Amino acid sequence: MTGLAEILARRIARTGPITVAEYMAAALTDADRGYYRTESAIGAEGDFTTAPEISQIFGELIGAWLVDCWEQCGRPNPVRLIELGPGRGTLMQDALRVGGLVPAWRRAIELHLVEINPRLRDSQAARLAAFSPIWHETLSTVPDGPTLLVANEFFDALPIRQLVFHAGAWRERMVAWTDGMGFHFVLSPGPSPLAALLPAEFPSPDEGDLVELSPASLGIAAEIGRRVALGGGAAVIIDYGRAATMKGATLQAIRAHRGVDIFAAPGRADLSAHVDFEALSLSARDSGAQIFGPVTQQRFLNALGVNQRAASLKSGATPTARRAIDRSVERLTGGAAMGDLFKVIAIAGHAIAPAGFPGPARAASP
Ligand SMILES: C[S@@+](CC[C@H](N)C(=O)[O-])C[C@H]1O[C@@H](n2cnc3c(N)ncnc32)[C@H](O)[C@@H]1O
Repeated sequence: MTGLAEILARRIARTGPITVAEYMAAALTDADRGYYRTESAIGAEGDFTTAPEISQIFGELIGAWLVDCWEQCGRPNPVRLIELGPGRGTLMQDALRVGGLVPAWRRAIELHLVEINPRLRDSQAARLAAFSPIWHETLSTVPDGPTLLVANEFFDALPIRQLVFHAGAWRERMVAWTDGMGFHFVLSPGPSPLAALLPAEFPSPDEGDLVELSPASLGIAAEIGRRVALGGGAAVIIDYGRAATMKGATLQAIRAHRGVDIFAAPGRADLSAHVDFEALSLSARDSGAQIFGPVTQQRFLNALGVNQRAASLKSGATPTARRAIDRSVERLTGGAAMGDLFKVIAIAGHAIAPAGFPGPARAASP
């Protein structure tokens, strides 16, 4: 067992089964042994790769999107430019290179990075030093004011809770540990009050149905909604997930680019779950913000001009480099790759119609 597995097993033996969210939070963010405290995670030598690591075009288009939102909300100065979970700093570096073409934007931005991983903070510092970033453990310590925010593959790392419909009621799925079986799931003896968080129109469940909820994600979506509704600005959230709250378990563990058992090595494997974009949207809308999307990543990047940017990078490139650019665009936008699985929403203050979306979503209407 990993050191963290032993700690969790002792905790469960002492106080009883823990929620899936408590297991996930310990495995990912335990101060000494959590995955995101100790591992570098991203890239060929890490456990997974992400869109900004696949192509510079991804961050560049986000940079243009952020500048456009800033123009639409009256060019506030200063404006808090916030990234949640900036990874190696690649997305922000590419976005700032494009944004820097607008000197007034460059002068207005104040860069805030919400990151808990010390190794990734070092990478961010190396790439973004010229912009004097300010680091935070949580969004709550970033000062209020006009906001431009980006979160790519951040929400999938936040803890989820799982409910299972059994004997006529939603019960919470808990993580137990016993000597012979190791970690395993059990159900809470009584019904869970969390079922109240399911959308009103959620279909009636059958015995054994499972649904995932992320109160932690809803809290952050509400905080983003409050910030942009009060201070102005916009946020773009990109992640793999579902357009609507649906049944089915999506919690998974990845280590060295391969799926592993979620109980195999807490603290050594990445744990994540599909993001519920309907729930995020409703939570941010309740804070007074406008919601745009969800749209697929394919549709969003196409609307922002991914193919035009690829064509411009390809002109003058070697045939090998041209093929590499085509492959990376296909990975970002192809239906069999990230294009359909990944979704995008914008959470915006008033009087902003962010690029890349057809119009306010159903969730945004009164
Ligand atoms: C899947 S990585 C995505 C990185 C980056 N956005 C990208 O696209 O390459 C998740 C990022 O969120 C950070 N992170 C995970 N959980 C966090 C938390 N609870 N608070 C702050 N940052 C967190 C990780 O350290 C990492 O930088």
